[in-house]
Amino acid sequence: SSDMLVDSFGRFHNYLRISLTERCNLRCQYCMPAEGVELTPKAELLSHDEIIRIANLFVTSGVDKIRLTGGEPTVRKDLEDICLHLSGLKGLKTIAMTTNGIVLSKKLPRLKECGLSALNISLDTLIPAKFEFMTRRKGHSKVMESIDTAIQLGYDPVKINCVIMRGMNDDEICDFVELTRHKPINVRFIEFMPFDGNVWNVKKLVPYAEILDKVRQHFKGVERLQDHPSDTAKNFKIDGHVGTISFITSMTEHFCAGCNRLRLLADGNFKVCLFGPSEVSLREPIHSGLDDAGLKEIISAALYYCMYRTSHFD
Ligand code: GTP
Ligand code: 5AD
Ligand code: SF4
Repeated sequence: SSDMLVDSFGRFHNYLRISLTERCNLRCQYCMPAEGVELTPKAELLSHDEIIRIANLFVTSGVDKIRLTGGEPTVRKDLEDICLHLSGLKGLKTIAMTTNGIVLSKKLPRLKECGLSALNISLDTLIPAKFEFMTRRKGHSKVMESIDTAIQLGYDPVKINCVIMRGMNDDEICDFVELTRHKPINVRFIEFMPFDGNVWNVKKLVPYAEILDKVRQHFKGVERLQDHPSDTAKNFKIDGHVGTISFITSMTEHFCAGCNRLRLLADGNFKVCLFGPSEVSLREPIHSGLDDAGLKEIISAALYYCMYRTSHFD
């Protein structure tokens, strides 16, 4: 490894999130408008080869975990191929994916063979009609099926991402916790965050402390677990449950100081912080023929100039 991945705050970034596509087969209200988002023309997205080249650059510099995201990563046709080539990178320990699980179940056995080693599946409600309302699409049973397939294939734990919004799904918190009684899953309650145009409203934010209170009122033996360093989640276990629960407290207790993530977007832009204002293109210099040493300089500079949040709402 090298200094390339150390930023101006002394944080070492060993975790790269790669967005494979901006497209999605759902339209979750907290993420996208009904008509979808404006898409970068296909010709301007990173190709398979460019993704592998950039990933290799990061892995040889010390990245040992890559997460594939979107949009929805399973809508990308060469997903299996990308996994397979990533799994050939020496030093990469984890290939993870965050998916909505809609078309996952059938693809999963092959994806596992290609090296996909960890799985986060988004699910915000256990009620099919509410799923349709929240995501503006059908498919609740498909997601439930994908979760079970993932468990059967031995993903342990299967992480379930559940964004809690007041008046929407905060009445289902205990039902989600109940799921951990017999399933080896990690249910992660996520504080609703403002994104461009998702009509964020502080009244819809249910703070972590309030969710935890609810859980404690309903379940005995709620025990705090040790977190891994640079984990964004606070982890808990309920006495007698096979699975675990966690809280991602992006709003009320942000975890920026320990953040180890980097982001490569589908259009080839690179950014350090999710909320950071600046992005730099890696695709353009690649197309002008820049070599790996030159790319590394661009990445180093982005890390040097990155900023992170110092208060909760700025
Ligand atoms: P793990 O590697 O399993 O910890 O995954 P993750 O939680 O980093 O990724 P995932 O894609 O499952 O995202 C879960 C939630 O965390 C989502 O709401 C993300 O928007 C949020 N998230 C991911 N990275 C960051 C980050 O750097 N900062 C903040 N504030 N939220 C993040
Ligand atoms: N606030 C919190 N989490 C969000 N996600 C998408 N939009 C938001 C938001 N506004 C989550 C999805 C998915 C993960 C990639 O990000 O539920 O699990
Ligand atoms: Fe956004 Fe994910 Fe929902 Fe798709 S599944 S609309 S990317 S939150």
